[in-house]
Amino acid sequence: MSKYSIPIYQPDLGGNVKAYVNECLDTSWISSRGRFVSEFEDRFAQRIGVAHAASVCNGTVALHLALMALGIGPGDEVIVPTLTYIASANAIAYTGATPVFVDSVRSTWQIDPEDVRRHITPRTRAIMPVHLYGQACDMDALMAIAAEHRLFVVEDCAEAFGTFYKGRHVGTFGDISTFSFFGNKTITTGEGGMVVSKDKTLIERSRHLKGQGLAAHREYWHDVVGYNYRMTNIEAAIGLAQLERADEFIGKKRALAETYRTALQDLPVQVHAEAPDTVHSYWMVSILVERAEQRDALREHLAKAGIETRPLFYPVHTMPMYARNYRKHSVAEDLAWRGINLPSWPGLSQAQLEIIVEAIRSFYRDAH
Ligand SMILES: Cc1ncc(COP(=O)(O)O)c(C=O)c1O
Repeated sequence: MSKYSIPIYQPDLGGNVKAYVNECLDTSWISSRGRFVSEFEDRFAQRIGVAHAASVCNGTVALHLALMALGIGPGDEVIVPTLTYIASANAIAYTGATPVFVDSVRSTWQIDPEDVRRHITPRTRAIMPVHLYGQACDMDALMAIAAEHRLFVVEDCAEAFGTFYKGRHVGTFGDISTFSFFGNKTITTGEGGMVVSKDKTLIERSRHLKGQGLAAHREYWHDVVGYNYRMTNIEAAIGLAQLERADEFIGKKRALAETYRTALQDLPVQVHAEAPDTVHSYWMVSILVERAEQRDALREHLAKAGIETRPLFYPVHTMPMYARNYRKHSVAEDLAWRGINLPSWPGLSQAQLEIIVEAIRSFYRDAH
């Protein structure tokens, strides 16, 4: 149980979740074989608009597999925004490659293509755009840079199920892309993830690696050092039931963002905007306060009212294991110190929303 009366996130596990999970239990298909795994993969691929998808046990290993499928390893550099969740950078580090951090665009909070350009070296192999909080990166600019410099693009779509750029779902632009289905994601499997690509070979490599590197034509014969990164049939069953309700979840989250925007428009806070030519899926509805000093005070004020919030991610280049080549990334740092994620789940009631809005308003009334 959360100590907050209004948690930051709460998945909706209605619909067919119980029926499908019970089917797994009743038939005893509870590991990574069973009908739900392939059905979830196929339906997910269809929904995103990609040819191939491989399910995995979380979004972090999805990134690890995507990078390994491209053959990225020691000596390589991968460009990644510093304003992201730690998993984006860690997955690069797992391969032995070096994450090279770049700044964000102030208006969208996404990876800055101009800063990407500045950080390309002869060792750069890939760019990892992260569609942060459900907004889309500037894929035209990034794909042009990648083509010019012959770089791979690995899209981290962990937070961007339901996000579109110029009419295409994110994850369909790069060479290979990944999603997360953690409990607080727009659709969840508890823990889970997906690797998707239009390139069959890359997904076949991902499958090979996620299943202990099992050789195709001989039992118990392994031809690479692989991993057990598989999703279970129970997780896929939950995922399939969630996918059936995806439009409802996304619709409610977008409506929630609009309600926050309208209700807070006269206050000195800025709700994360939807950039032109994109559909923002509002995984997290986020705000910026005017001054960094107000951020924690506002969060404490909301916590006292029973409302859970989160700070924006700390820029990864400031963390000890990645701070060796510490450089300023002013936009990412400024956003990170001023940003707050607000409760953003689709089942948030009108009454709860009013409590949150009133709590934010009362903070500013009390002379902050
Ligand atoms: C941007 C980003 N990348 C990767 C991940 C990793 O996903 P998971 O938590 O499923 O391992 C997350 C997860 O929350 C994320 O937000």
